[in-house]
Amino acid sequence: MFDPKPIVAADKAAAYAELEQQLRALLAGERDFTANAANTAALLFHSLPGLNWAGFYRLVGEELLLGPFQGKPACVRIPAGKGVCGAAVAQRATVLVPNCRAFPGHIPCDPASKSEIVVPLLKDGRLLGVLDLDSPILSHFDAADQAGLERLVAVFVAETDS
Ligand code: SME
Repeated sequence: MFDPKPIVAADKAAAYAELEQQLRALLAGERDFTANAANTAALLFHSLPGLNWAGFYRLVGEELLLGPFQGKPACVRIPAGKGVCGAAVAQRATVLVPNCRAFPGHIPCDPASKSEIVVPLLKDGRLLGVLDLDSPILSHFDAADQAGLERLVAVFVAETDS
């Protein structure tokens, strides 16, 4: 059994460093994408404050297809280039949205979501999909979250077959 430990850290950078150690322990010995994505989504959802959704979309052909997540049921297929997730794919870079309503083409899966961050999963230059986190709080995510989540995604991609 893996029981996420409460994160006790002075600042976000330290909190993400602790979370990275927990993620490495959680993924150790398993390389299946679905299993690792499911456990990563659960760890993030239960460890990071202020989230109402945390999960993965996989790039399948020209679409993003819903993967393992925690939160309310979500949009199943997102065409390339659409929404925040599609923007992260098009840019092959993290997209940080302080106010979902102000983002042109934002796809509101859960009306409670007010801010969002989407990190692409890149493996040896291949785009596998995205990690998407939503918050019911405006401007919830900042540069420290971006840096921490990009680090966690790098661990996920390195520890997972695709
Ligand atoms: N809001 C996302 C869609 C996915 S949900 O937030 C889970 C977007 O605009 O791409």
